Formats: sequence, C-alpha cells, structure tokens
Amino acid sequence: MMAPVLKPDSAALDRAARLLAEGGLVAMPTETVYGLAADAANAEAVARLYAAKGRPAFNPLIAHCASAEAAFAQGRFSEKARALAAKFWPGPLTLVVDAIDTTTVCSLARAGLDTLALRVPAHPAARTLLEAFGGPLVAPSANPSGRISPTTAGHVADDMGDKVDLILDGGPCSEGIESTVIDARGEMPVLLRQGTILPDAIEAFWPGLEAGGSADRPTSPGQLLRHYAPDARLRLNAGSAQPGEALLGFGPGEATLNLSAKGDLVEATANLFAMLRKLDESFDQIAVAPIPVEGLGAAINDRLVRAADRG
Ligand code: TXA
Ligand code: MG
Repeated sequence: MMAPVLKPDSAALDRAARLLAEGGLVAMPTETVYGLAADAANAEAVARLYAAKGRPAFNPLIAHCASAEAAFAQGRFSEKARALAAKFWPGPLTLVVDAIDTTTVCSLARAGLDTLALRVPAHPAARTLLEAFGGPLVAPSANPSGRISPTTAGHVADDMGDKVDLILDGGPCSEGIESTVIDARGEMPVLLRQGTILPDAIEAFWPGLEAGGSADRPTSPGQLLRHYAPDARLRLNAGSAQPGEALLGFGPGEATLNLSAKGDLVEATANLFAMLRKLDESFDQIAVAPIPVEGLGAAINDRLVRAADRG
C-alpha cells in the first residue's frame, strides 16, 4: 500500500509522532536528504527499518535529536566536541562520540558498537517532529540500499512509497547531500564523511582535522568483529545444545533464549545483539540454531559468522 504524502502541518506531524511511537517508519525531510525515521529506542522498529532499506548488513545509524542538550544526554562529549556542536547544531553535522551506558539508542541501531553518531537537524519539520516525538530518531537516507539518496518527497514515494507508513513533504532538501561526519572522540577531529560543512569550517573551531577512513565503511568486517566480539565461542547451525552450551534458538523448541519462537526474522534481528550479549554474560559456549539465509536472515547470518570467527 502506498504511504500518504502529507505537508508537515501540525496534524500531520502529530500523526507522524504517533506512528513512530507505535514502531512505524516515517520519511522526514531534513536539510541534507530525506531520512527514513524510526524510534531509536525500539529495536523492532529499527529492524523493520533495515529490512525496508534492504541493507545487506547492519550499518550503524545516526541518532537525530531535537536539541544539543538532548544529544549531550546520549553520548560523552569533550569540550572540543561541545564547541563544535554549539557552532554547527542545528545543522548538517554528525558527531561520533562514545555512547554513555544509559543511552536510549538501542544496540541494533548502533550495530553493536560502543560509539554513537548524533546529529541535530535544522529542517523545521524535522525539529518539530523530534520535539513532538520526545526522543532520538534514527534516520538513514530514505532510499533502498545502493540507490541515490532522496532530496524530495517524490523521490521517497517512488523508491519507498510501499515500505513506509507516512511521508512528510517538506519540500526539496536545502543541502542535498548527507551530513559531514566527524569522529569527535579523540584529541583531534577525524573526518569520516565529507558534507556541506567543509574541513576549513571545522578547522576554525578545532584545528588538526585528520582525514579518516570512509564513513560508509566505519566498520570493516574485522573492526566490527573487534568491537563486538563475544567472549563466548559460537557454534552455528546447531541442532541442539551440548553439555555446558547455551542455546540461542530460532523458531519453536527448547532454548536458553529464543531470537523468535515464531520464526520471525524482524523479531530475531531486533533481539540479536541484546541476546548474544545476555548469553555471553553467563556462558562460555553458545550454540546458535540455524537461521534461514533470506531477507534479514542474511544479515543475521553475516553477523553471526563474524561473531563466531576467532580470527
Ligand atoms: O545527512 C544525513 O546524515 C542523513 C540525514 C537523513 O540525516 N542521514 C544519513 O544516514 O546519511 P546514513 O545511515 O545513510 O549514514 C550514516 C553514516 C554512515 O556513513 C555510517 O557509517 C556513519 O554515519 N556512522 C553511523 N554511526 C557511526 C559510528 N558509530 N561510527 C562511525 N560512523 C558511523
Ligand atoms: Mg545513505
């Protein structure tokens, strides 16, 4: 079914905030590109978002906040990072910082990383929606994986109209390319993705900008593995648990924890990181039931294979 495309008046923004609270997906205008927004705290909604985009693997997402104060409540900001935020927020700048323990951004949205990408968008519709919703929204560009990012509501309707619950039409995006991404964790800022806030503008506030890797691959398979390597050994495609093993199940049957007793891949994706962490706390060996390699299952298996790899 085709999602409604609405001008972001107060009725439409209320409806959008309600849909998001229910775990829905809303395409929202930002000044950079249109984002596909979901409740950052709701792992099932985030799993649905990855599925809608058809992402082959789980990339970490940017958490959008209504204000710098709201962003500061999610991550650890150095004085320099705060200065950068004060200068450029709201605006097309994303800052990568360490997540604090009490962050409400779920681990699936962070792809299991301990870091967090945060941004306060400037577009009035995005800001009003974030305020009405009352928490961080993750929002990758609202295009299927591998396609060009959308800068009008029409682009979104063409590409994703049948995969989202509502499209807010805030007109064409003023920036037109994705935000500048800066890793703000260290002594020196590191440029992870070029955007419309240029290196010189960053340098003026925080000298010593280093060219980083590509933010499209912040986490090479090896790095991602290192960031999220369970201490326990994983045995994949296991029919049952052997003595001393926990069983991470999928589908009906006995299990220590079950990714989805009804065999639902969205639910399994939403549970994956949290359940692996939980079992890792009390077991040295985790047997994992077979998970079909289709749709989100491919991404789950991709992550499991990496997590099982002892390098
Ligand atoms: O302008 C934008 O940033 C748009 C609008 C909608 O806000 N959003 C966007 O999101 O481009 P997305 O998911 O397409 O790109 C997020 C970028 C990716 O390059 C990702 O690798 C990087 O941010 N990223 C997210 N979390 C990260 C982290 N913890 N460390 C390093 N890079 C991260
Ligand atoms: Mg993108």
